[in-house]
Amino acid sequence: MSALIEFDSVCKYYQMGDTVVKAADHISMKIEKGEFVAIVGQSGSGKSTCMNIIGCLDVPTSGTYKLNGRDVGSMDKNELAEIRNELLGFIFQQYNLLPKLSLLENVELPLVYAGLSRSEQHQRAKEALEQVGLGNKLDNKPSQLSGGQQQRASIARALVGRPAVILADEPTGALDSHTGREVLGILQKLHKQGNTVVLITHDNSIAVQAERIIRLEDGRIVYDGDSHAPEAVVQPNYIPQEEEETEQEGSV
Ligand SMILES: Nc1ncnc2c1ncn2[C@@H]1O[C@H](COP(=O)(O)OP(=O)(O)OP(=O)(O)O)[C@@H](O)[C@H]1O
Ligand SMILES: [Mg+2]
Repeated sequence: MSALIEFDSVCKYYQMGDTVVKAADHISMKIEKGEFVAIVGQSGSGKSTCMNIIGCLDVPTSGTYKLNGRDVGSMDKNELAEIRNELLGFIFQQYNLLPKLSLLENVELPLVYAGLSRSEQHQRAKEALEQVGLGNKLDNKPSQLSGGQQQRASIARALVGRPAVILADEPTGALDSHTGREVLGILQKLHKQGNTVVLITHDNSIAVQAERIIRLEDGRIVYDGDSHAPEAVVQPNYIPQEEEETEQEGSV
């Protein structure tokens, strides 16, 4: 069985005059179904580059990216759009809700091509909005909601097509810390229900809410592991202590 997301030596290079910018530099990693992973790193470290590749919005310069066992690098524009619709749900910092449509209509939009009847589309969109606690706002316009509520609606829109992966790029970036935690709580709930969540953030306090952290620096992975390990949240210029204190057995 292949992983849901699999990067094998993925590179994304940009030629800028005489220099080559290595936005992704031989990145290899796997994300399995049901994981909650945060991709972190400073500005310019390659987070959006990875997100765009994972999200089939861009393809690697070299290396292979397989989504659900399918090689994305060899796909044309139409195939990329198709696999995106089929397997991915996106959440961005800006909620990108259409202002003239009600929440229900906004959330129904991704289902237009799903081959469902109108009443099924309705039902699914309603359920998705209920899942994020907006079951009582179906007929409201986005402008009648708070920022946190709009972001929850955009989560419902990402969910409604039952994607294999929920991809969130700085989903709390435009929210105050309390509302941000609320939105994060919804992502955690979705993960507990079995969804695969990939979260991009530059904020360590957000990243530690995931199970696993992948930290990027200059287009390379410098940490990949448990989000609770101390080295998961250190800054790139951190120099590790030479020696850890030796634990005495039975001294607890
Ligand atoms: N289209 C492009 N052309 C040239 N260089 C690019 C392009 N896109 C990204 N880069 C460069 O690739 C590197 C990684 O950029 P990326 O957008 O992935 O960083 P990021 O981690 O998302 O940063 P931020 O936190 O600021 O969003 C940067 O040095 C950036 O300047
Ligand atoms: Mg970015």
